[in-house]
Amino acid sequence: MAKKPEGKKKTFQLVKGMKDILPVDARYWNYVSNLAEKFASTYGFGRIETPVVENIDLFVRSIGQATDIVEKEMYAFTDQGGDRLGLRPENTAGVIRAYIEHGMQTVPQPVKLFYIGSMFRHDKPQAGRYRQFSQIGFEVIGEPEPIIDAQIILIAYKFCQAAGFNCTMQVNSIGCSDCRPNYEQELKDYFKRVKGKLSELSQIRLIKNVLRILDSKEEEDLPLIAGAPQQVDFLCEGCKNHFIQVLEYLDDLEIPYALNPRIVRGLDYYNRTTFEIWINDEEVGRQSALGGGGRYDGLVELLGGQPTPAVGFALGVERFINQIKETDHKVPENPKPEIFLAQLGLEARKKALKLFEGLTQAGIRVAENLSKSGLKPQLEMADRLGVQFTLILGQKEIVDNTIMIRDMENGIQEVVDFEKAIIEIKKRLSKAVVNE
Ligand code: HAM
Repeated sequence: MAKKPEGKKKTFQLVKGMKDILPVDARYWNYVSNLAEKFASTYGFGRIETPVVENIDLFVRSIGQATDIVEKEMYAFTDQGGDRLGLRPENTAGVIRAYIEHGMQTVPQPVKLFYIGSMFRHDKPQAGRYRQFSQIGFEVIGEPEPIIDAQIILIAYKFCQAAGFNCTMQVNSIGCSDCRPNYEQELKDYFKRVKGKLSELSQIRLIKNVLRILDSKEEEDLPLIAGAPQQVDFLCEGCKNHFIQVLEYLDDLEIPYALNPRIVRGLDYYNRTTFEIWINDEEVGRQSALGGGGRYDGLVELLGGQPTPAVGFALGVERFINQIKETDHKVPENPKPEIFLAQLGLEARKKALKLFEGLTQAGIRVAENLSKSGLKPQLEMADRLGVQFTLILGQKEIVDNTIMIRDMENGIQEVVDFEKAIIEIKKRLSKAVVNE
């Protein structure tokens, strides 16, 4: 009896807001992570990797209950053991948890850490905003001096400059727990007076977290925000001096920055300096900040450690790569193969498998298609790859213990001793480089 045809199997698609990174984009990812490694080594940061899963309370306590991230965007779940866990929406909290847990307060301060990794926020997906995205972050823990704020801003700026971006650092100070409450009260009084004109979201924020109104993107809020009192006018002496010094350092370093009273950030752990990296492009909106950061002197203590000042920033890797693609910045191509190894017949295929190892060990970039049996498709592939030479092992070469070297440019073929294959190809490759 004929077999019944099986029904077509269901295929799967990416989960909304997620993306695949395919080999065509690998060079951008390599470029950005190499840049991060280079900066880390120049400025003395050690790499840290923390898990993507942490206790949910770590994020709630550090980022803040009344923030969009915690209220709306967290991937939270209960695992089989009943623990309440979350996928990290950012990595400063995890880094500080590790700093405390591994007793890093006892080593010479500051402790400088950097990371590259995936973060998760269940936000509305749109251009430059994903539900899984990567950040590169730099954190300096254990140092209150304004010079460190300036150096962190410098690193962020130079990182973007290295990729050829034209950006301006948007800088603000949001004061400390001494002076911020006065400002928040002033802001509340101001927005209460114009409450009816505020967007719905801002009316909620007026009750929950008035500072966040300054971060609103709603059209109707913008003129009201423009007329709002500014934190810098309410800073205490300590915060004012700190901020002035940060700005003096930035002036001295000639870093392009703009004082921006709206940089209040979407996470509650910040105090004093806050900043974002904006591309100088009128087309690019606020939400496309390439990165952001600031000082968070209270976080270590909030998470159970000794009072320890800290400052840092993180860049969004996808946004960084999108920006590279939009500009002319040249990112090195993945190195192309120099030669192709073609084979014909069972014996030749076996010999080619071994020869491939010898060639790569000799530092030659080789392409092959060992599963193909015809010579023509292999030569076509060699052509497509643009290799300089093709090594051909056919039945005759197997009998004679030789190998053929074909110059792909002029089609000239030479037969050499099989044992000398590697030496001969190396000789020709170095000549080809000289002749280029
Ligand atoms: P953040 O501003 O929330 O700060 O995120 C930093 C950067 O991550 C953003 O500027 C953006 O480039 C990228 N990013 C954020 N959300 C998304 C998303 N949904 N899709 C794509 N990219 C995104 C922080 O996370 C702080 N932990 C930074 C910090 C480090 N502060 C001190 N140290």
